[in-house]
Parts: sequence; structure tokens; C-alpha cells
Amino acid sequence: MGEALGRALVFGAGGGVGGALAARLADQGYEVAALARRPLLDWPGRQARFDLEDEASLAAAAAELKEGAPIRRIIVATGLLHAEGVSPERSNAALDAAQLLRLYAINAVGPALIAKHFLPLLPRDEPSVFAALSARVGSISDNRLGGWHSYRASKAALNMLIQTMAIELKRTRPQAILVGLHPGTVDTALSKPFQRGVPEGRLFTPDESAERLLTVMDGLGPEDSGGVLAWDGTRIAA
Ligand SMILES: NC(=O)c1ccc[n+]([C@@H]2O[C@H](COP(=O)([O-])OP(=O)(O)OC[C@H]3O[C@@H](n4cnc5c(N)ncnc54)[C@H](OP(=O)(O)O)[C@@H]3O)[C@@H](O)[C@H]2O)c1
Repeated sequence: MGEALGRALVFGAGGGVGGALAARLADQGYEVAALARRPLLDWPGRQARFDLEDEASLAAAAAELKEGAPIRRIIVATGLLHAEGVSPERSNAALDAAQLLRLYAINAVGPALIAKHFLPLLPRDEPSVFAALSARVGSISDNRLGGWHSYRASKAALNMLIQTMAIELKRTRPQAILVGLHPGTVDTALSKPFQRGVPEGRLFTPDESAERLLTVMDGLGPEDSGGVLAWDGTRIAA
């Protein structure tokens, strides 16, 4: 079956949503390569290493995965919202240059460099999808609440990079689609400290989110390329 569907690559396969996406894609019959910065002890299939902050590791992973069945899905499921010394800003006064740059590096620069090295691996004349997980809070026109400056700005930057890279991709690989996807609010380590205000029934398990995201990806058309869509298939305004 993997022959017919081809390959799927999942970056950040050790994360909550990334792990669920890799498992579902394998269940669907894709030949999945799981990419992470550390070995994935529970993953029975193919693996490769990369670090978003090390472009040479992305070039090496691309060289390693170049040959094989056609690559029809690439998903970047990495991301950063909080870590030691990094927490979403609650005020303008909390802005910190190091934190802003760190979130740009992980949420915008890293996924764009993955696109730089892996878009050339997509088939020239067959449909394929490259999706990077973004976030609704990256929408500039939808921002009424404020706060979370560095996360919002880094996801807005990611969305702009997606739109920009999609313009060239349309010329070189007309059937390839490049999008950002908002996975919903998902019960993972990333959202753990911020789940209190989530309305009943709107906190997805990683598997629920993965199922919806893969359905959205299956339904995309060329007109969607460059845009950002939510887990329910609706377009998120820039
Ligand atoms: N969860 C939500 O509610 C939610 C909502 C909106 C958008 N999103 C977006 O969805 C995506 C997936 O998030 P998640 O909830 O699944 O978070 P998660 O469980 O924390 O997964 C994030 C992944 O990113 C990886 N990563 C971070 N820095 C890296 C680096 N330098 N190199 C390689 N990998 C790196 C982590 O690897 P390690 O395990 O090695 O650290 C981890 O596997 C993110 O883009 C997030 O912004 C999530």
C-alpha cells in the first residue's frame, strides 16, 4: 500500500501532534519517515535526525531521504511556546529580545529552512502537500486579545514565509500545495499550562487533531496554496 500512496515525512514526530500525525499516516498506508532531534524509541519505521537551528542537519536529512517512493506529504509539526526562560508575554513591558529571537528561530526560520531543503524533493508533476503547523493567534487581522507577542509574531512571520515560498512553488511544481495549518487547541506539553480557559469539547486529543488535519490536507486544492487553514478546513485570515 505504501507504494501507491508514497512517502510522508513528519518533522517533530516526537511531539504531541507530530507523533499522532506520524502514526495516523502510517495507518493510512503511507511509508512514513519520522524526523526528530532525538531517537524515537517507540517508532518502528524509518527515522532521521534534524535540529531546526542547524541548517546543515536539514541538508543532510534531505540528502538521506532523497531516494525512494514519491513524497506526497511533508508535515512540520515542530514549535515552541514556552520553555525554561521562555513564557508567553502578558504585557508590552515583558518584551525580551532574546525570547523574540528564539521564537522566530524555532517557529518561523526553522520551518522555512525545512521548506527550502525539502520542497525540491516533492514530485514535479503529481499532487503533493507540504504543511507547517501554525496557529490561529498568528493572524494579524484576528488579534483582538493581545499578549503572547513573540509566539504571535513568529507564527505571523511563518505565515508570510509560507505565502512567499508558495508563489515560486506554483511555477516549479504546479501540483504541489504549501499551507499553514492550525491544529486547534490540543492536549500536548505545549498547551498544558494554558488549557484552563478552553471551552468544553474544544480541547482535542493529539489523535483527534491529527485526524482532522489529515482530512483537511486530503481536501486541499491549488487555490489553497500559500494560505493558512484551521482543523475544520476554514481559511484563517492573514
Ligand atoms: N497544542 C496546541 O494547542 C497548539 C495550538 C496551536 C498551534 N500549535 C502548533 O502545533 C505544533 C505542534 O505542537 P504540539 O502541541 O504538538 O507541541 P509539542 O508536543 O511541544 O511538540 C513540539 C515539537 O517541536 C520540537 N522542537 C522544538 N524545537 C526543536 C528544534 N530546535 N529542533 C527540532 N525539533 C524541535 C520538539 O522536539 P523535542 O521533543 O526534542 O523538544 C517537539 O517534538 C506547533 O507548531 C504549535 O505551535 C499547537
